[in-house]
Amino acid sequence: MRNRLCLLWVLYAGCSGPPDDSSTPVDLTDEPLRELAQSLGRRMGSVVNPLIEPDPAFEPNLLREFDLIIPGNAFKPKNIHPHLDTFDFSLTDEMMDFASEHGLELHGHTLTWGKASSLPAWLTSRTDWTRPELIAVLENHIATVVGRYRGRVFAWDVVNEAFCDPAYEANCVVTAGEDGGMDGSFWYQGIGPDFIEIALEAARRADPDAMLYVNDNGWELNGSPKASKLYAYVSDLVTRGVPIDGVGIQMHWGMTMADLALPSPEWQLRLEEAAASLRANLQRFNDLGLDVRVTELDVALPDGPPCSSEQDLARQAEVFVLALRTCFEARRCPSFNLWGFTDKYSWIPEARPGYGCATIMDSNYVPKPAYHEMKTWLRSRL
Ligand code: XIL
Repeated sequence: MRNRLCLLWVLYAGCSGPPDDSSTPVDLTDEPLRELAQSLGRRMGSVVNPLIEPDPAFEPNLLREFDLIIPGNAFKPKNIHPHLDTFDFSLTDEMMDFASEHGLELHGHTLTWGKASSLPAWLTSRTDWTRPELIAVLENHIATVVGRYRGRVFAWDVVNEAFCDPAYEANCVVTAGEDGGMDGSFWYQGIGPDFIEIALEAARRADPDAMLYVNDNGWELNGSPKASKLYAYVSDLVTRGVPIDGVGIQMHWGMTMADLALPSPEWQLRLEEAAASLRANLQRFNDLGLDVRVTELDVALPDGPPCSSEQDLARQAEVFVLALRTCFEARRCPSFNLWGFTDKYSWIPEARPGYGCATIMDSNYVPKPAYHEMKTWLRSRL
């Protein structure tokens, strides 16, 4: 089938261990997540990756539960821009057609990301780029990619992971008087901190109607160094009229808030504190006139087998509901996007060895407590 999605990571499955056949599959007579979210005027999204082998269960589950997709890797410059003068749109066109055919919104991820792993070698291996040359490369990349999907990709992560907390991230450039900083990798080094507004302006020129986002991780807590830096930077953009529509909050919990889903005597208390802090944080960005989207939520647990203890799964469910509640209770948080909905294709076991089980369904598409609890909360709001 032309638009069939295929999975790049078919070679490794999320949670190791025997399949868990003790739970029940999704109840098909029940309203799916997307319908419940739509009743509240919001959307439910998931990351997707392209397939090398058909997985007959992936597509029906995706289409039943979600009305928005984020291609996980296809739009990254390394994949879409293999040579200075060549673009490869085969995968992104396929995903765009898939989204259009099924009435899904497609959130483009990502136009600018300084990490070498997202950038093509022709760009990073040359060391004598001048600033004007790099600006031209960046503007051409954005004009070409955004221009091709003008009117179709409704929102872009124009910039990804440009901010940092010096306590946790290498390469963090901190300005005097501030605690958080800017990630000093490729675009920052070559162009300077204004690469962000150059990118935003280029995206606006290429599609005046697309929503433009700055996306980052680890800024969940209000007053954390990274959140403060992001807020100061973005407020300045807004004040100066630089085109920006919102900020994305990744929420790789278990990664950036490492212990939130794990047992501890003060767990419930920390959960409540985290909820209050997150709420205040989203609110102050909304107060700037910006949307906030949850863009990449997953909640990693210590890996099994079996997948995880009942207590861990119950805590994981509380964390998913906390995130959902905070987003959907915020004035402007139009979509809640998961970085995968089945452990079968979650990136966590590879990115964080010893952890897994980070999504709302197990490797056999059996829903976990997180799935059921999210639905219970959504129903309670109708
Ligand atoms: C991850 C993908 O899911 C992996 O397949 C890839 O190997 C590395 O990148 N933050 C982001 C995403 O913005 O682009 C990352 O995606 C996960 C962390």
